[in-house]
Amino acid sequence: MMEKIYPRTDDMQTVYLNAVIKDSSIEVGDYTIYNDFMSAPRMFEQNNVLYHYPINHERLVIGKFCSIACGAKFLFNCANHTLKSLSTYTFPLFYEDWSLDKSDVASAWDNKGDIIIGNDVWIGYEAVIMAGVRIGDGAIVGTRAVVTKDVPPYTIVGGVPARPIRKRFDEDTIRKLETLQWWDWSVEEIRQRLPYIMNGEIDGL
Ligand SMILES: CC(C)(COP(=O)(O)OP(=O)(O)OC[C@H]1O[C@@H](n2cnc3c(N)ncnc32)[C@H](O)[C@@H]1OP(=O)(O)O)[C@@H](O)C(=O)NCCC(=O)NCCS
Repeated sequence: MMEKIYPRTDDMQTVYLNAVIKDSSIEVGDYTIYNDFMSAPRMFEQNNVLYHYPINHERLVIGKFCSIACGAKFLFNCANHTLKSLSTYTFPLFYEDWSLDKSDVASAWDNKGDIIIGNDVWIGYEAVIMAGVRIGDGAIVGTRAVVTKDVPPYTIVGGVPARPIRKRFDEDTIRKLETLQWWDWSVEEIRQRLPYIMNGEIDGL
């Protein structure tokens, strides 16, 4: 857990996300940042994690060293009116008017499950990540993408619906990065090897 909220002096638009999260069903790794110049970044849970009500018990898990751009949204299961019904009207939600059982409220929605984001993932401006999606380590989600399917590690996706644009590196480099998992090293180790990370020198790493 990060001890400070703002990584940069005099920049109140960028937060270490796990320092501002209160909801126990949202888990964020260290050093992951969220930037917001439209609204208070400390309001991430309210403004960016949407339709995420306790009734479905779903989790948002985000790894370490991710960069989440302004307006990126995580759209959870209470956005998914059930398609099993002959109507998309959420009758079970309005149980009082339709003499339905309150305990069946969750049947108003199709539950596609948790959203899991790996480590070192960059999520672009106003991208939307749908319920049930898993995004692999090192992936990039382009500006305004709508991600409806899982994204493999180190893959750049974009568009609506998001499709792979290209891999970030060759297969050998991706394999090495996945083996190294540098984000789990100690801060001291990362600091020592930062020149290799920053300069793209996989063999030095
Ligand atoms: C996706 C991204 C990382 C660029 O990756 P890239 O590999 O350098 O992409 P290129 O610019 O070479 O474009 C490659 C292709 O992807 C398309 N593309 C690029 N960005 C895209 C996007 N956001 N959505 C859909 N398609 C996109 C290009 O049109 C191009 O298509 P083509 O091959 O049919 O011509 C970048 O465009 C992007 O969206 N970055 C996020 C920026 C952002 O939101 N920052 C917030 C502040 S942190």
